Amino acid sequence: MSKGSRDNKAQGEPAREGRRGFLGKLWVFLGAVVVAEIVAVALAFLRPRDPEARGAAPDAIMEAGHMERFPLNSVTAFARGKFYLCRLGDGGFLAVSRRCTHLGCTVPWVEEKSRFECPCHASSFDIRGDVVAQPAPRPLDLYPVLIENEVVKVDTGKLLRRRAFREEQVVHPRKA
Ligand code: FES
Repeated sequence: MSKGSRDNKAQGEPAREGRRGFLGKLWVFLGAVVVAEIVAVALAFLRPRDPEARGAAPDAIMEAGHMERFPLNSVTAFARGKFYLCRLGDGGFLAVSRRCTHLGCTVPWVEEKSRFECPCHASSFDIRGDVVAQPAPRPLDLYPVLIENEVVKVDTGKLLRRRAFREEQVVHPRKA
C-alpha cells in the first residue's frame, strides 16, 4: 500500500466516525420526540374534562319544544333529561326533577289527582313540585328554564335545591 492511500484512509476514518456519531444523535433525538408525542397524547386523553373549557356547557341545554306545545296546567315528562316540564295555569314554566326529595325514588305524575305521587313512602307534590304530603322534606328540585324565540329550553346540567316554592321560580314567556 502506498503512503498516499494510507494517508487518505487515515483522513476518511474520523469523517466516517463523525457521520456515524451525528446519525446516532439524530436517531436518539427523533426517538425522544416520538416518546414525548405519545406521552402528550396519553396525558391529554387521561386528563379530566373541564366542561367550561370544552365549551360543553351548552350540551346540557335541552330543547323541550315550542311553548305552544305545552297547554296550561300540563305536565310533560322528559325521560332523557330526568325532569317534568310543568306549565302552570298562568302560562309560566317550571322544570322539576323526577327524584323524590325524601329518598330519591322516581315520582310519577298522576293525572287524575293532579299530583306527583311517590310510590315509595307516599309523599306527594303539586304541579309546582311543592310538598302536599310528607315525608318529603322539601319541594322537588328544579332545573333552570330558558325561553328563547318562544322555544322552551332546560339546563339539565344545573340542579337547583329549594326549601320552598316561590313565585319567582316560575319562568314566564316574555309578552310580545
Ligand atoms: S322516596 Fe319518596 S316518599 Fe320516600
